[in-house]
Amino acid sequence: MENVILKTTQLTKKYNNKAVVDDLSLEIRRGEIFGLLGPNGAGKSTTMNMICSTVAPTAGRVELFGKELRSHRKEVIRRIGYIPQELAIHGNLKAWENAEMFISLYGLKGEKLRQAVTESLEYVGLNECRNEFAKHFSGGMKRRLNIACAIGHSPELLIFDEPTVGIDPQSRNFILEKIKESNSSGATVIYTSHYMEEVEAICTRIAIMDNGRIIACGSSAELKKMVNGNDDITLEEVFLTLTGKKLRDIEG
Ligand SMILES: Nc1ncnc2c1ncn2[C@@H]1O[C@H](COP(=O)(O)OP(=O)(O)O)[C@@H](O)[C@H]1O
Ligand SMILES: [Mg+2]
Repeated sequence: MENVILKTTQLTKKYNNKAVVDDLSLEIRRGEIFGLLGPNGAGKSTTMNMICSTVAPTAGRVELFGKELRSHRKEVIRRIGYIPQELAIHGNLKAWENAEMFISLYGLKGEKLRQAVTESLEYVGLNECRNEFAKHFSGGMKRRLNIACAIGHSPELLIFDEPTVGIDPQSRNFILEKIKESNSSGATVIYTSHYMEEVEAICTRIAIMDNGRIIACGSSAELKKMVNGNDDITLEEVFLTLTGKKLRDIEG
């Protein structure tokens, strides 16, 4: 089995001639919970969209599971579960209908599909509400349904793009626990966020991103040592030192 799950090489996206993702090279290995930490506008979602091939790069290359994305798109996309920042669920469909619609896109049918729908709804704690319309769900429940829709095909790589923005603390903790659980049962995870505490709590390695670039990458302790010589410093101070910005001030 290949050990490098994702490799980007000089990945770049320009809008109106301005690079919003700029020459980004990184490697994510099997079993990691990799955190991409950066303020709003840093280029996190654009990076994730290029990895999932929903945005075409201006330059550079993406390899997933050792294969070049563009030439193996169909095959590698099935091995990814992408939970987008913008909710992708339909309010006028019931919870189970949402899950079924998305999971069926991955080719599951019949009993296998029914089982995957129930298991994913159970996984996010929504199976009891499976017959309710998504539009009646709270923000946290919608987020959880969004996750159920993306995990039913048992992906090896899970990509979460700011899954805890604007939801209650209980749903937030639930989602973080689920991410750790998925990782313990074998999934590699990419976790994108501008919340330092979350990234620090669950991620094995963290990349700090600002203005389209990765400024530093390492475990939380490594990042702290890089900046301070020892780890007697908060991740927030690391961020400030490296970018000259306070992450909290620029939260949106
Ligand atoms: N489709 C687009 N057209 C033009 N500019 C875009 C588009 N998508 C994103 N951007 C810009 O690219 C920058 C990075 O956005 P994004 O990747 O969403 O950052 P993040 O997810 O870190 O908040 C922002 O300045 C944003 O306005
Ligand atoms: Mg984003």
